[in-house]
Amino acid sequence: MSFSIEKGEIVLIVGSSGSGKSTLLNMIGLLDHPSNGKIFIDGVDTTTLDDNEISSFRNKKLGFIFQFSNLLTDLSVLENVLLPRQIGGTDGAAEKEAMDLLNAVGLEKQMHKRANKISGGQAQRVAIARGLINHPSIVLADEPTGNLDSVTSETIVQLMKSMAKKLDQTFIIVTHDRQHFGQVDKVITIKDGRSYEGEQPSGMEVLA
Ligand SMILES: Nc1ncnc2c1ncn2[C@@H]1O[C@H](COP(=O)(O)OP(=O)(O)OP(=O)(O)O)[C@@H](O)[C@H]1O
Ligand SMILES: [Mg+2]
Repeated sequence: MSFSIEKGEIVLIVGSSGSGKSTLLNMIGLLDHPSNGKIFIDGVDTTTLDDNEISSFRNKKLGFIFQFSNLLTDLSVLENVLLPRQIGGTDGAAEKEAMDLLNAVGLEKQMHKRANKISGGQAQRVAIARGLINHPSIVLADEPTGNLDSVTSETIVQLMKSMAKKLDQTFIIVTHDRQHFGQVDKVITIKDGRSYEGEQPSGMEVLA
């Protein structure tokens, strides 16, 4: 497969179960290593990085949002958002930024609650704020609404779209909820290990 994504685009990766969406996302996210081929992010061929470089690159350039928000329940909402920042060393501005992000996702009143005292939809909003705290070049989301009811999904989708535009963030989102996303910049369909740009692979031109 071969495709390119521009800065600030919202891109959906769709395709049937087992087609390789998560595998692709994990390779872009440097959580998995391709056996063949190259992946360029901001001009760097990430397949040539060593383990230390991968950790540093991932922490600086990539933000992750998964299907289950994976919050640490012993910590407050605010502390969860700050976690990725602390890996790279904190600064005085970090807490203010985390609060601003929680504000942006509508959780200003929940930030001092423990993470196990909020709803699933709220937890997913915390995960979005956490995914953005390091100003990643790319936010990678694997089924971010997969565990939510459809009304909550709609809110989360709209939130991701508005954050993407506001922060000029690139979002690459694996989803089964194509209809919830409405207009996006690009849709990549994975079928039988190949990528197609667009939503209906049959009869469409294969990119590579
Ligand atoms: N660690 C692994 N080792 C070997 N095969 C794997 C591994 N992880 C996934 N696979 C296989 O690779 C293929 C693609 O899996 P992947 O999880 O990327 O699919 P997916 O499109 O994300 O599916 P879903 O929509 O169900 O999440 C599947 O056949 C899967 O069984
Ligand atoms: Mg998957």
